[in-house]
Amino acid sequence: MSTSTVDQLPLDAFMNLCRERVQRVLKTQLETLPGPATRLREAMLHASLLGGKRVRPVLAYASAQAVGGTLEAADMAACATELVHCYSLVHDDLPAMDDDDLRRGQPTVHIAFDEATAILAGDALQALAFRLLSDPTLHSATPVTSLRMINLLAAAAGFEGMVSGQSIDFEATGRSVSLQDLQTMHSLKTGALISASVLLGALTTEKATDMQLSALGRYAECIGLAFQVQDDILDVVSDTATLGKTQGADQAMNKPTYVSLLGLNAARSKAQDLCDSALAALTGFDSRADALRQIARYIVERRH
Ligand code: IPE
Ligand code: IPE
Ligand code: MG
Ligand code: MG
Ligand code: MG
Repeated sequence: MSTSTVDQLPLDAFMNLCRERVQRVLKTQLETLPGPATRLREAMLHASLLGGKRVRPVLAYASAQAVGGTLEAADMAACATELVHCYSLVHDDLPAMDDDDLRRGQPTVHIAFDEATAILAGDALQALAFRLLSDPTLHSATPVTSLRMINLLAAAAGFEGMVSGQSIDFEATGRSVSLQDLQTMHSLKTGALISASVLLGALTTEKATDMQLSALGRYAECIGLAFQVQDDILDVVSDTATLGKTQGADQAMNKPTYVSLLGLNAARSKAQDLCDSALAALTGFDSRADALRQIARYIVERRH
């Protein structure tokens, strides 16, 4: 099947195609990285190749497609966002943070290896994301676009985004927070990287207009927050085998979540409202944005 004519695939087929793609590219990049640190490489492979829904790469590919791009051109954007995500999970699971021993149905990296290796594997995964985006032999983006993508991902990953969200999460654990503060925390810790995935995907085409990018930004903000609201819901209603991570971990640590603040029903309607707003942001796009539309629904309907 041609990879540039997949915009009419049902979501399952599209997601599987994207997952296989990103798996293949990530594996090649990780296995061919020059360097002697075998145990560190194994930890990085453990963190990034064993499962995961690959929502961020799928979003990058779907967003590229929505503005007339190809999956090929979006490969490095897809890999970079997933690498930053995998690093964030390895560090999120550390004893100093959420202290989780199960991730994607496997022992977490600090359990399968050791804490120092987990910290270093996270560091190296994050660096690799920027290494891939900045390598002109790996993609066709112009230098100006590459720089824009690197800048955007760095902002989403760092103090302006995910890391600050994680810091607020850490400080809020065991405390009560306002709904506004909870929303800020969720938008930073999860929404920022999801937004970056959507925008990076669109930028790889070199065709996206400012209006399209701003509409995609509004879409992404809504699904990013919805994604974490649904994550909070699943922590309560799902089970460990389905999730591949420990169910009830938020309650056990007394984390403020949408469910603890609003209750299950209100959290569910919040997620649905966000999905509706995300769909509304895509009004100006044609059927090539259907995958993005389906992903918005998937994010609030998913069971794991
Ligand atoms: C889990 O992310 C952490 C959050 C940001 C909520 P995912 O639910 O995307 O985890 P994987 O990648 O599928 O394992
Ligand atoms: C993690 O949020 C967000 C990240 C930046 C990794 P959670 O702590 O809720 O993620 P899970 O539930 O452990 O996957
Ligand atoms: Mg956490
Ligand atoms: Mg966690
Ligand atoms: Mg969670």
